[in-house]
Order: sequence, then structure tokens, then C-alpha cells
Amino acid sequence: MAPKSPEKAKKESPNKAAAAEEEKKSPVKAGAGSAGKTRAASPTKLEKSPAKKPKGEEALAEGPAAHTRAKEGDAPTSAAAKAAANAAAANLLPELTITDVLLADHRDTVALLKHFEEIAGGQDKLMMEKLVDAIAITIRLHSQAEADVLYPLLAKRLGAQGKEAMKHAASEHAKIERDLVTALEQRKSGSEELASTLKEVMEAFIHHMKEEEEEMVPKLLAGMSEEEQVEVCQSFLSAKAKAPLEPQPEAAEEMAAA
Ligand SMILES: [Fe+2]
Ligand SMILES: [Fe+2]
Repeated sequence: MAPKSPEKAKKESPNKAAAAEEEKKSPVKAGAGSAGKTRAASPTKLEKSPAKKPKGEEALAEGPAAHTRAKEGDAPTSAAAKAAANAAAANLLPELTITDVLLADHRDTVALLKHFEEIAGGQDKLMMEKLVDAIAITIRLHSQAEADVLYPLLAKRLGAQGKEAMKHAASEHAKIERDLVTALEQRKSGSEELASTLKEVMEAFIHHMKEEEEEMVPKLLAGMSEEEQVEVCQSFLSAKAKAPLEPQPEAAEEMAAA
């Protein structure tokens, strides 16, 4: 069937055609008075499905509700969550042990190093600088607390074997802290070598962390009561709070040579 000509359509729907003509001529009039407002607020004939959001917008709109549903669904079913909530309410959360803090520090450091690796070579220079600072300070506080609290304890509890382990760990700290000095200089000068320096830090840190977690710490904690582990943790946290913020490779070298 041949399409209707505009003239024919006009004849068949004279009111609609006239209204459209009127709106074209007088857009201001369309917004004036109640009839005009009604037309403006009901654009179904002028726009394609304006109420239907694009997929991305729908997902965004659904996000918070889905999140809320997930939280609501999880809470009542977990006995552990209930116990934790009760303990928190009674101020009875279990105290952290040295293992908790060591593992958390190691994981945080690796996460920061991976964030840096992800954006290295990209355009976000400011975020790269922030990450270098965060990595340097996170490693610094952790290394100082180990040097002040953990490694001397290792030598004290495990004798000659502990002292050897302490010296080995300190030599690895010295290498990492030297690389961090270099990284901070490269960050200031905008050197292209920064990413490869941080790659070395990541490799050295992961190697060192694994040795601590798989060999050193289990030996150190063998036979240590949970109470003692909490006390060591408190000393460790105090040492972190007082640690110098700039890398200290010389101090680590001294400990390695002792
Ligand atoms: Fe260490
Ligand atoms: Fe460590």
C-alpha cells in the first residue's frame, strides 16, 4: 500500500495536524497554561521511549538496590556475623595477634604494588605518584616494626639460627629500602625508570614476604601463647606508629652485618 501523502493525513486527522502545526509556530505557547504543560510533560508522541533508560543507566539505577538486597540477605543467615556483631556491641572483639598484622601488612603492600603496576606507563601521573608514596610508607612502617620488635625476638628465641634468619631478612630489607630511595627520586624527577624500579621492589617484597610467612614466622611463633602473640602485636603496632617515614637502608645494612 502506498504511503499516505501529508495532505491526505491532514484530511484524516485535521485536529492532530493542526495541533502539530501550532506547536511548531508557537513553542512558547506550548509551555504556557495548563494545556501547554500537559503536552510538554507527555512527550510520548515526540520522543522515542524517553522513559526507557540505556542498559548502562539501568545497571546504575539498579546497583544500590541490588547491593542493599545482598547485604540484607547475608546478615541474618551468618552465625559468625551475628557473633561478631554481638561481640562488637559488647566491646569484646578478639585482639589482634602479630600474625594478623603481619599478614594484613603484607597483603596491603602487594595490593598497592599491583595498583601501581596496573597504571604504570599510563597518563595518570598523579595517581602513580600517590601510589609510590603509599608503597614507600607502608613498607617503611612495616620494616621498622620488624627490625625493632620481630627480628630481635627471633634472635632471642631461636639463638644462632634466629640470628642468621634476622641477618638474612635485614639484608633483604636493605635492598628493598635502597630501591625505594631510588623510586622516590625517580618519582620527583619524572623518570621513565620508575616502573622498572617498582617492579624490582615488588619481586623482592613478594620473595621476602613468602620467606617470612612460610619459614620465619611459624618458627618464631611455635610455642608462643596467644597472649604473648597479642603482646608482640601491640609492641609491633607501637613501633609502626613511631617509625621514621623516610627509607632507612643504612640501618637495615647495619643489622644485616651485625
Ligand atoms: Fe621483613
Ligand atoms: Fe614482613
